[in-house]
Amino acid sequence: MKTILSPSIKYYSIKLINNNKLSLNLYLLDFKILDNIITEPKPPQFIMLWVPGYEAIPMSVAGFNSEDNTLSILVKPVGPTTRRLVSMSCGSYLGMYGFLGREHIPHGNKFLFVAGGSGLAPILYYLKYLGCTPDKCHVLFGCWRREEIGDAPRLISKLGGKPYTACFGECDYQGTILDAYTKINLGEYDAIIVSGPPEMIGNMLNKVNNNVNHYFILEETIKCGLGLCGKCTLRNLGRLLCIDGPLFNYEDTLRVYS
Ligand code: FES
Repeated sequence: MKTILSPSIKYYSIKLINNNKLSLNLYLLDFKILDNIITEPKPPQFIMLWVPGYEAIPMSVAGFNSEDNTLSILVKPVGPTTRRLVSMSCGSYLGMYGFLGREHIPHGNKFLFVAGGSGLAPILYYLKYLGCTPDKCHVLFGCWRREEIGDAPRLISKLGGKPYTACFGECDYQGTILDAYTKINLGEYDAIIVSGPPEMIGNMLNKVNNNVNHYFILEETIKCGLGLCGKCTLRNLGRLLCIDGPLFNYEDTLRVYS
């Protein structure tokens, strides 16, 4: 298959302007893009973020504002590069290239977003991009503990979504995000978009209600993000996550996990 790179992919210098702790283990970082963006990102696209002295890592776009040329990402510090990232001070310079992956804009009037942990990142940008209201966009956000939920519900509300939380603590639903998903009346939604760690998505596939269109934002190791290295090949599907994804429909996701 011939890989066609988008002419809009470009390298940008960026400056960290805000670094806010959203919960026990999630940080919302805002960057000023120091060149003019050629095309604005569309959800659920991602960037390759270069952290000086470390490496380039894939990060979902969690927010973008074309008026002041700012970009937001949501970071969970799990390794040396992400730990370095959340420790950086405002005014630090980094690099990025993008925007990468395919866009997917759901059809319909009412959507449910199911997000586990840092899987919330692309959902935040969906809320903004779709011009969400509490009637139109519901977000089920799940973590193990209440401290990991943090201020996320307030951010979801600020972006126009109606938040529901799931955790083993003081949340709207007690238990796992999958327990909560099975209690929701899915018939009222035109599409359901799921984003979270691979184990969560794997477990959820067994519980999917096939009467509603489900889409899954998948994770895989990404090195180049450009379709060049083959590192992100999805087994059983024979496609590249960085070019053909990161979002796949239910049938394709089932094949990835089979
Ligand atoms: S990360 Fe290199 S081909 Fe996808």
